[in-house]
Amino acid sequence: HGTSTINDQGHLEIGGVDTTALARDYGTPLFIYDVALIRKRAASFQQAFIEEQVPYQVAYASKAFSCIAMFQLADELGLSLDVVSGGELYTAIQSGFPMERVHFHGNNKSLMELEMAVEAQIGCIVVDNFYELGELSRICAERNVQMSILLRITPGVEAHTHDYISTGQEDSKFGFDLISGQVHQAVEVAQADGNLRLLGVHSHIGSQIFETTGFVMAVEKMFELIKHWREVFDFTPQVLNLGGGFGIRYIEGDTPLPAEEYVQKMIEVVKRQAAEIEMDMPEIWIEPGRSLVGDAGTTLYSVGSKKHIPNVRDYLAVDGGMSDNLRPALYQAEYEGILANRANEAPTDTFSIAGKCCESGDMLIWDLPLPNANHEDVLAVFCTGAYGYAMANNYNRIPRPPVIFVENGEAQEVIKRESYQDLLRLDVPLANNVAK
Ligand code: LLP
Repeated sequence: HGTSTINDQGHLEIGGVDTTALARDYGTPLFIYDVALIRKRAASFQQAFIEEQVPYQVAYASKAFSCIAMFQLADELGLSLDVVSGGELYTAIQSGFPMERVHFHGNNKSLMELEMAVEAQIGCIVVDNFYELGELSRICAERNVQMSILLRITPGVEAHTHDYISTGQEDSKFGFDLISGQVHQAVEVAQADGNLRLLGVHSHIGSQIFETTGFVMAVEKMFELIKHWREVFDFTPQVLNLGGGFGIRYIEGDTPLPAEEYVQKMIEVVKRQAAEIEMDMPEIWIEPGRSLVGDAGTTLYSVGSKKHIPNVRDYLAVDGGMSDNLRPALYQAEYEGILANRANEAPTDTFSIAGKCCESGDMLIWDLPLPNANHEDVLAVFCTGAYGYAMANNYNRIPRPPVIFVENGEAQEVIKRESYQDLLRLDVPLANNVAK
Protein backbone atom coordinates (compact mmCIF):
# COMPACT_ATOMS: atom_id res chain seq x y z
CA HIS A 1 0.00 0.00 0.00
CA GLY A 2 1.04 3.66 -0.18
CA THR A 3 4.40 4.17 -1.83
CA SER A 4 5.79 0.83 -0.62
CA THR A 5 7.59 -1.22 -3.25
CA ILE A 6 10.31 -3.82 -3.49
CA ASN A 7 13.50 -2.60 -5.15
CA ASP A 8 16.05 -4.46 -7.31
CA GLN A 9 17.92 -5.73 -4.27
CA GLY A 10 14.72 -7.24 -2.92
CA HIS A 11 14.49 -4.63 -0.20
CA LEU A 12 11.32 -2.97 1.02
CA GLU A 13 11.28 0.61 -0.16
CA ILE A 14 8.95 3.32 1.22
CA GLY A 15 8.72 6.83 -0.19
CA GLY A 16 11.55 5.95 -2.55
CA VAL A 17 13.86 5.16 0.38
CA ASP A 18 15.39 1.73 1.00
CA THR A 19 14.20 0.73 4.47
CA THR A 20 17.24 -1.45 5.12
CA ALA A 21 19.41 1.65 4.62
CA LEU A 22 17.26 3.46 7.20
CA ALA A 23 17.69 0.56 9.62
CA ARG A 24 21.46 0.78 9.10
CA ASP A 25 21.62 4.58 9.45
CA TYR A 26 19.22 5.09 12.35
CA GLY A 27 19.29 1.68 14.03
CA THR A 28 16.24 -0.32 15.09
CA PRO A 29 13.52 -0.27 16.28
CA LEU A 30 12.52 2.54 14.00
CA PHE A 31 9.25 4.15 12.92
CA ILE A 32 8.95 5.20 9.27
CA TYR A 33 6.09 7.38 7.97
CA ASP A 34 5.09 7.48 4.32
CA VAL A 35 4.27 11.19 4.04
CA ALA A 36 2.69 10.86 0.58
CA LEU A 37 0.17 8.41 2.02
CA ILE A 38 -0.77 10.83 4.82
CA ARG A 39 -1.34 13.49 2.14
CA LYS A 40 -3.53 11.09 0.17
CA ARG A 41 -5.59 10.08 3.21
CA ALA A 42 -6.19 13.70 4.22
CA ALA A 43 -7.17 14.64 0.67
CA SER A 44 -9.74 11.84 0.41
CA PHE A 45 -11.63 13.14 3.46
CA GLN A 46 -11.39 16.76 2.33
CA GLN A 47 -12.26 16.06 -1.30
CA ALA A 48 -15.50 14.35 -0.31
CA PHE A 49 -16.67 17.53 1.44
CA ILE A 50 -15.47 19.79 -1.35
CA GLU A 51 -17.34 17.77 -3.98
CA GLU A 52 -20.57 18.08 -2.04
CA GLN A 53 -19.88 21.77 -1.34
CA VAL A 54 -20.48 21.28 2.35
CA PRO A 55 -18.63 23.56 4.79
CA TYR A 56 -16.35 21.34 6.84
CA GLN A 57 -13.32 20.92 9.01
CA VAL A 58 -11.23 17.77 9.06
CA ALA A 59 -9.43 17.84 12.40
CA TYR A 60 -6.53 15.46 12.84
CA ALA A 61 -7.01 13.62 16.14
CA SER A 62 -3.47 14.14 17.25
CA LYS A 63 -3.58 11.51 19.99
CA ALA A 64 -2.91 9.00 17.18
CA PHE A 65 0.59 10.41 16.66
CA SER A 66 1.88 13.80 17.61
CA CYS A 67 5.15 15.65 17.27
CA ILE A 68 6.14 19.04 15.94
CA ALA A 69 6.77 17.81 12.39
CA MET A 70 3.43 15.99 12.26
CA PHE A 71 1.61 19.14 13.33
CA GLN A 72 3.47 21.15 10.71
CA LEU A 73 2.42 18.62 8.09
CA ALA A 74 -1.19 18.77 9.33
CA ASP A 75 -1.07 22.55 8.96
CA GLU A 76 0.32 22.27 5.45
CA LEU A 77 -2.51 19.86 4.56
CA GLY A 78 -5.14 22.31 5.76
CA LEU A 79 -6.25 20.05 8.59
CA SER A 80 -7.53 21.33 11.90
CA LEU A 81 -6.14 19.78 15.06
CA ASP A 82 -7.92 17.93 17.84
CA VAL A 83 -5.87 18.04 21.05
CA VAL A 84 -6.80 16.41 24.34
CA SER A 85 -4.21 17.65 26.80
CA GLY A 86 -1.98 20.54 27.72
CA GLY A 87 0.93 18.54 26.31
CA GLU A 88 -0.67 18.17 22.88
CA LEU A 89 -1.69 21.84 22.94
CA TYR A 90 1.83 22.87 23.94
CA THR A 91 3.23 20.84 21.03
CA ALA A 92 0.76 22.56 18.69
CA ILE A 93 1.78 26.00 19.97
CA GLN A 94 5.49 25.19 19.60
CA SER A 95 4.94 23.84 16.08
CA GLY A 96 3.41 27.15 15.00
CA PHE A 97 0.05 25.54 14.23
CA PRO A 98 -2.69 28.19 13.67
CA MET A 99 -4.53 28.30 16.99
CA GLU A 100 -7.88 29.13 15.39
CA ARG A 101 -7.91 25.62 13.91
CA VAL A 102 -7.26 23.86 17.23
CA HIS A 103 -10.08 22.03 19.07
CA PHE A 104 -9.62 20.93 22.66
CA HIS A 105 -11.20 17.69 23.92
CA GLY A 106 -11.22 15.77 27.17
CA ASN A 107 -13.48 14.63 29.98
CA ASN A 108 -11.38 16.21 32.71
CA LYS A 109 -9.47 19.19 31.41
CA SER A 110 -7.60 20.81 34.26
CA LEU A 111 -8.04 24.48 35.08
CA MET A 112 -4.50 25.04 33.89
CA GLU A 113 -5.31 23.40 30.57
CA LEU A 114 -8.47 25.49 30.15
CA GLU A 115 -6.55 28.68 30.94
CA MET A 116 -3.84 27.68 28.48
CA ALA A 117 -6.45 27.10 25.77
CA VAL A 118 -8.20 30.41 26.44
CA GLU A 119 -4.94 32.33 26.50
CA ALA A 120 -3.78 30.69 23.28
CA GLN A 121 -7.16 31.69 21.77
CA ILE A 122 -7.75 28.29 20.23
CA GLY A 123 -10.66 27.81 17.82
CA CYS A 124 -12.98 25.85 20.02
CA ILE A 125 -13.30 23.85 23.21
CA VAL A 126 -15.41 20.72 23.18
CA VAL A 127 -17.08 21.01 26.57
CA ASP A 128 -17.70 17.70 28.27
CA ASN A 129 -19.55 18.46 31.52
CA PHE A 130 -21.08 21.11 33.78
CA TYR A 131 -17.98 21.57 35.90
CA GLU A 132 -16.00 22.48 32.81
CA LEU A 133 -18.78 24.72 31.51
CA GLY A 134 -18.73 26.74 34.74
CA GLU A 135 -14.96 26.98 35.03
CA LEU A 136 -14.50 27.89 31.37
CA SER A 137 -17.06 30.65 31.71
CA ARG A 138 -15.28 32.01 34.79
CA ILE A 139 -11.86 31.87 33.08
CA CYS A 140 -13.22 33.74 30.05
CA ALA A 141 -15.03 36.31 32.22
CA GLU A 142 -11.84 37.04 34.22
CA ARG A 143 -10.03 37.77 30.98
CA ASN A 144 -13.00 39.41 29.34
CA VAL A 145 -12.76 37.16 26.28
CA GLN A 146 -15.11 34.84 24.42
CA MET A 147 -14.55 31.18 23.65
CA SER A 148 -16.35 29.11 21.03
CA ILE A 149 -17.60 25.78 22.29
CA LEU A 150 -19.22 22.56 21.19
CA LEU A 151 -21.12 20.40 23.65
CA ARG A 152 -20.09 16.77 23.63
CA ILE A 153 -23.03 14.44 23.86
CA THR A 154 -23.16 10.72 24.53
CA PRO A 155 -25.38 9.75 21.62
CA GLY A 156 -26.18 6.30 23.00
CA VAL A 157 -24.62 4.72 19.95
CA GLU A 158 -21.67 2.62 20.83
CA ALA A 159 -19.42 1.40 18.08
CA HIS A 160 -17.79 -1.96 18.52
CA THR A 161 -15.03 -2.65 16.10
CA HIS A 162 -17.04 -4.47 13.48
CA ASP A 163 -20.60 -3.63 14.42
CA TYR A 164 -22.43 -1.27 16.70
CA ILE A 165 -25.05 -1.48 19.36
CA SER A 166 -27.55 1.12 20.32
CA THR A 167 -27.45 1.39 24.07
CA GLY A 168 -30.65 2.56 25.69
CA GLN A 169 -28.80 3.00 28.94
CA GLU A 170 -25.72 5.10 28.37
CA ASP A 171 -22.64 4.31 30.35
CA SER A 172 -19.67 6.42 29.32
CA LYS A 173 -17.37 8.86 31.06
CA PHE A 174 -17.58 11.23 28.09
CA GLY A 175 -20.07 13.97 27.44
CA PHE A 176 -23.60 14.98 28.40
CA ASP A 177 -26.06 12.10 28.36
CA LEU A 178 -29.34 12.29 26.51
CA ILE A 179 -31.46 10.52 29.07
CA SER A 180 -31.41 12.82 32.06
CA GLY A 181 -32.09 16.00 30.12
CA GLN A 182 -28.62 17.23 31.11
CA VAL A 183 -27.79 18.12 27.56
CA HIS A 184 -30.76 20.49 27.30
CA GLN A 185 -29.75 22.20 30.51
CA ALA A 186 -26.22 22.54 29.14
CA VAL A 187 -27.54 24.26 26.01
CA GLU A 188 -29.58 26.63 28.14
CA VAL A 189 -26.61 27.50 30.37
CA ALA A 190 -24.19 27.93 27.47
CA GLN A 191 -26.58 30.03 25.43
CA ALA A 192 -27.20 32.40 28.31
CA ASP A 193 -23.48 32.86 28.91
CA GLY A 194 -22.03 35.98 27.29
CA ASN A 195 -18.51 34.58 27.38
CA LEU A 196 -19.33 31.37 25.55
CA ARG A 197 -20.28 31.07 21.89
CA LEU A 198 -22.18 27.83 21.46
CA LEU A 199 -21.36 26.61 17.95
CA GLY A 200 -22.93 23.19 18.08
CA VAL A 201 -22.64 19.58 19.19
CA HIS A 202 -20.09 16.82 19.10
CA SER A 203 -20.28 13.06 19.27
CA HIS A 204 -17.69 10.32 18.89
CA ILE A 205 -19.04 6.80 18.71
CA GLY A 206 -15.87 4.72 18.80
CA SER A 207 -12.82 3.65 16.88
CA GLN A 208 -11.80 1.32 14.03
CA ILE A 209 -15.33 1.40 12.59
CA PHE A 210 -16.03 -0.37 9.28
CA GLU A 211 -19.62 0.75 8.68
CA THR A 212 -21.64 3.93 8.35
CA THR A 213 -24.63 2.75 10.41
CA GLY A 214 -23.34 4.06 13.73
CA PHE A 215 -22.66 7.50 12.27
CA VAL A 216 -26.13 7.61 10.73
CA MET A 217 -27.67 6.78 14.09
CA ALA A 218 -25.58 9.46 15.81
CA VAL A 219 -26.76 12.06 13.30
CA GLU A 220 -30.37 11.02 13.84
CA LYS A 221 -29.96 11.38 17.60
CA MET A 222 -28.44 14.82 17.10
CA PHE A 223 -31.38 15.95 15.03
CA GLU A 224 -33.85 14.80 17.68
CA LEU A 225 -32.02 17.19 20.00
CA ILE A 226 -31.84 19.96 17.45
CA LYS A 227 -35.61 19.86 16.87
CA HIS A 228 -36.13 20.31 20.59
CA TRP A 229 -33.57 23.12 20.87
CA ARG A 230 -35.06 25.03 17.97
CA GLU A 231 -38.49 24.87 19.54
CA VAL A 232 -37.60 25.45 23.16
CA PHE A 233 -34.42 27.58 23.09
CA ASP A 234 -34.57 29.02 19.58
CA PHE A 235 -31.08 27.56 19.18
CA THR A 236 -29.85 26.13 15.86
CA PRO A 237 -26.34 24.64 15.87
CA GLN A 238 -24.05 25.78 13.10
CA VAL A 239 -21.60 22.90 13.60
CA LEU A 240 -22.12 19.15 13.88
CA ASN A 241 -18.92 17.36 14.84
CA LEU A 242 -19.27 13.62 14.21
CA GLY A 243 -15.92 12.62 15.70
CA GLY A 244 -13.45 10.11 14.31
CA GLY A 245 -13.16 6.36 14.34
CA PHE A 246 -12.89 5.51 10.64
CA GLY A 247 -11.31 2.09 10.34
CA ILE A 248 -8.15 1.01 8.54
CA ARG A 249 -6.91 -2.29 7.19
CA TYR A 250 -4.39 -3.79 9.60
CA ILE A 251 -4.71 -7.35 8.35
CA GLU A 252 -6.24 -9.06 5.37
CA GLY A 253 -9.61 -9.65 7.04
CA ASP A 254 -10.20 -5.98 7.86
CA THR A 255 -12.78 -4.30 5.63
CA PRO A 256 -12.83 -0.54 6.20
CA LEU A 257 -14.73 1.69 3.79
CA PRO A 258 -12.90 4.29 1.71
CA ALA A 259 -12.81 7.67 3.51
CA GLU A 260 -15.16 9.20 0.94
CA GLU A 261 -17.91 6.73 1.77
CA TYR A 262 -18.07 7.64 5.44
CA VAL A 263 -18.17 11.33 4.55
CA GLN A 264 -20.71 10.97 1.74
CA LYS A 265 -23.04 9.04 4.01
CA MET A 266 -22.75 11.64 6.77
CA ILE A 267 -23.47 14.45 4.34
CA GLU A 268 -26.44 12.60 2.86
CA VAL A 269 -28.06 12.02 6.25
CA VAL A 270 -27.35 15.50 7.61
CA LYS A 271 -28.74 17.05 4.40
CA ARG A 272 -31.90 14.98 4.59
CA GLN A 273 -32.45 15.64 8.29
CA ALA A 274 -31.76 19.37 7.95
CA ALA A 275 -34.16 19.65 5.01
CA GLU A 276 -36.89 17.94 7.03
CA ILE A 277 -36.82 20.67 9.63
CA GLU A 278 -36.01 23.46 7.18
CA MET A 279 -32.67 24.14 8.76
CA ASP A 280 -29.67 25.60 6.91
CA MET A 281 -27.02 23.01 6.18
CA PRO A 282 -24.67 23.04 9.18
CA GLU A 283 -20.90 22.70 8.96
CA ILE A 284 -19.77 19.11 9.38
CA TRP A 285 -16.59 18.53 11.31
CA ILE A 286 -14.84 15.18 11.66
CA GLU A 287 -11.83 14.02 13.67
CA PRO A 288 -9.95 11.17 12.03
CA GLY A 289 -6.79 10.02 13.79
CA ARG A 290 -6.03 6.42 12.88
CA SER A 291 -7.27 6.72 9.30
CA LEU A 292 -4.91 9.63 8.54
CA VAL A 293 -1.67 8.14 9.85
CA GLY A 294 -2.24 4.46 10.69
CA ASP A 295 -1.28 2.76 7.46
CA ALA A 296 1.39 5.36 6.70
CA GLY A 297 3.49 4.01 9.58
CA THR A 298 5.84 1.02 9.46
CA THR A 299 8.06 -0.22 12.28
CA LEU A 300 11.43 -1.82 11.56
CA TYR A 301 12.96 -4.25 14.04
CA SER A 302 16.14 -6.30 14.01
CA VAL A 303 15.70 -10.00 14.44
CA GLY A 304 17.50 -11.40 17.47
CA SER A 305 17.07 -14.70 19.24
CA LYS A 306 15.01 -17.65 18.06
CA LYS A 307 13.33 -20.34 20.06
CA HIS A 308 12.12 -23.57 18.52
CA ILE A 309 9.70 -25.65 20.57
CA PRO A 310 9.27 -28.92 18.66
CA ASN A 311 5.71 -29.52 17.51
CA VAL A 312 4.58 -26.31 19.19
CA ARG A 313 5.94 -23.07 17.83
CA ASP A 314 8.88 -21.03 16.62
CA TYR A 315 9.47 -17.75 18.40
CA LEU A 316 11.40 -14.99 16.71
CA ALA A 317 12.40 -12.18 19.04
CA VAL A 318 12.89 -8.58 17.93
CA ASP A 319 14.57 -5.59 19.56
CA GLY A 320 11.33 -3.79 20.46
CA GLY A 321 7.86 -4.88 21.50
CA MET A 322 5.20 -3.54 23.83
CA SER A 323 7.47 -0.58 24.59
CA ASP A 324 6.92 0.74 21.05
CA ASN A 325 3.61 -0.98 20.25
CA LEU A 326 1.23 -1.63 23.13
CA ARG A 327 -1.72 -2.47 20.93
CA PRO A 328 -1.25 -6.26 20.67
CA ALA A 329 -0.84 -6.57 24.46
CA LEU A 330 -3.63 -4.12 25.25
CA TYR A 331 -6.25 -4.98 22.62
CA GLN A 332 -5.03 -8.25 21.07
CA ALA A 333 -4.53 -6.10 17.98
CA GLU A 334 -3.23 -7.94 14.93
CA TYR A 335 -0.55 -6.87 12.45
CA GLU A 336 1.18 -8.16 9.34
CA GLY A 337 4.87 -8.02 8.54
CA ILE A 338 7.62 -9.09 6.17
CA LEU A 339 11.40 -9.23 6.14
CA ALA A 340 12.42 -5.81 4.80
CA ASN A 341 15.76 -7.12 3.47
CA ARG A 342 14.26 -10.21 1.80
CA ALA A 343 10.96 -8.71 0.71
CA ASN A 344 10.67 -10.78 -2.48
CA GLU A 345 11.23 -14.16 -0.82
CA ALA A 346 8.21 -16.37 -0.33
CA PRO A 347 7.41 -17.50 3.22
CA THR A 348 8.66 -20.96 4.10
CA ASP A 349 8.15 -20.89 7.86
CA THR A 350 5.84 -19.56 10.51
CA PHE A 351 7.18 -17.46 13.34
CA SER A 352 5.54 -15.84 16.32
CA ILE A 353 7.13 -12.45 16.84
CA ALA A 354 8.15 -11.81 20.42
CA GLY A 355 9.14 -8.48 21.94
CA LYS A 356 12.03 -8.06 24.36
CA CYS A 357 10.05 -6.90 27.40
CA CYS A 358 9.81 -8.99 30.53
CA GLU A 359 6.20 -10.04 30.00
CA SER A 360 4.86 -13.21 28.42
CA GLY A 361 2.16 -11.03 26.89
CA ASP A 362 4.75 -9.04 24.96
CA MET A 363 4.00 -10.70 21.63
CA LEU A 364 3.67 -8.55 18.51
CA ILE A 365 2.35 -11.07 15.97
CA TRP A 366 1.31 -14.70 16.35
CA ASP A 367 2.04 -17.19 13.55
CA LEU A 368 3.44 -14.88 10.90
CA PRO A 369 4.47 -16.59 7.64
CA LEU A 370 8.06 -15.58 6.83
CA PRO A 371 11.14 -16.89 5.03
CA ASN A 372 13.49 -18.67 7.41
CA ALA A 373 14.60 -15.60 9.33
CA ASN A 374 17.79 -15.14 11.30
CA HIS A 375 19.53 -12.40 13.21
CA GLU A 376 20.83 -10.61 10.10
CA ASP A 377 17.27 -9.82 9.10
CA VAL A 378 15.08 -6.75 9.52
CA LEU A 379 11.39 -7.25 10.22
CA ALA A 380 8.96 -4.62 8.95
CA VAL A 381 5.61 -4.47 10.75
CA PHE A 382 2.95 -2.54 8.83
CA CYS A 383 0.22 -0.08 9.85
CA THR A 384 1.85 1.02 13.08
CA GLY A 385 1.38 4.76 12.44
CA ALA A 386 -1.53 5.31 14.83
CA TYR A 387 -1.32 4.75 18.58
CA GLY A 388 2.11 3.13 18.18
CA TYR A 389 4.66 5.81 18.96
CA ALA A 390 1.87 7.71 20.71
CA MET A 391 1.53 4.96 23.31
CA ALA A 392 5.22 4.03 23.39
CA ASN A 393 6.68 3.92 26.85
CA ASN A 394 9.84 3.25 28.81
CA TYR A 395 8.83 -0.05 30.34
CA ASN A 396 12.00 -1.93 31.31
CA ARG A 397 13.78 1.39 30.73
CA ILE A 398 13.81 0.78 27.01
CA PRO A 399 14.46 4.05 25.12
CA ARG A 400 11.78 5.03 22.62
CA PRO A 401 12.66 4.63 18.92
CA PRO A 402 13.21 7.49 16.50
CA VAL A 403 10.64 8.50 13.86
CA ILE A 404 11.60 9.12 10.23
CA PHE A 405 9.44 10.79 7.59
CA VAL A 406 10.11 9.61 4.04
CA GLU A 407 8.92 11.11 0.77
CA ASN A 408 10.24 11.31 -2.81
CA GLY A 409 13.47 9.52 -1.97
CA GLU A 410 14.24 11.77 1.01
CA ALA A 411 14.32 10.78 4.66
CA GLN A 412 14.05 13.17 7.58
CA GLU A 413 14.36 12.30 11.23
CA VAL A 414 11.46 14.02 13.04
CA ILE A 415 11.86 12.44 16.48
CA LYS A 416 15.25 11.32 17.72
CA ARG A 417 15.96 8.06 19.47
CA GLU A 418 15.84 8.39 23.23
CA SER A 419 19.24 7.91 24.85
CA TYR A 420 20.11 6.31 28.19
CA GLN A 421 20.87 9.84 29.43
CA ASP A 422 17.35 10.88 28.42
CA LEU A 423 16.01 8.08 30.59
CA LEU A 424 17.79 9.55 33.60
CA ARG A 425 16.87 13.15 32.86
CA LEU A 426 14.20 13.36 35.56
CA ASP A 427 15.84 11.08 38.11
CA VAL A 428 16.91 12.65 41.40
CA PRO A 429 19.49 10.64 43.39
CA LEU A 430 18.89 10.17 47.12
CA ALA A 431 19.88 13.26 49.10
CA ASN A 432 21.55 11.13 51.79
CA ASN A 433 22.89 8.21 49.89
CA VAL A 434 24.10 5.96 52.69
CA ALA A 435 24.76 3.08 50.31
CA LYS A 436 27.95 4.75 49.13
N1 LLP B 1 -12.27 12.08 18.44
C1 LLP B 1 -12.43 11.67 19.70
C2 LLP B 1 -13.28 12.45 20.61
C3 LLP B 1 -11.78 10.51 20.15
O1 LLP B 1 -11.96 10.11 21.40
C4 LLP B 1 -10.95 9.78 19.26
C5 LLP B 1 -10.23 8.60 19.70
C6 LLP B 1 -10.81 10.26 17.95
C7 LLP B 1 -11.49 11.41 17.58
C8 LLP B 1 -9.95 9.58 16.94
O2 LLP B 1 -10.32 8.26 16.70
P1 LLP B 1 -9.66 7.46 15.48
O3 LLP B 1 -10.08 8.14 14.20
O4 LLP B 1 -8.19 7.51 15.66
O5 LLP B 1 -10.20 6.09 15.63
N2 LLP B 1 -5.61 3.67 21.55
C9 LLP B 1 -6.70 3.06 20.81
C10 LLP B 1 -7.61 4.08 20.18
C11 LLP B 1 -8.18 5.06 21.16
C12 LLP B 1 -9.04 6.07 20.50
C13 LLP B 1 -9.47 7.12 21.46
N3 LLP B 1 -10.23 8.17 20.89
C14 LLP B 1 -6.11 2.14 19.76
O6 LLP B 1 -4.89 2.03 19.68
O7 LLP B 1 -6.83 1.48 19.03
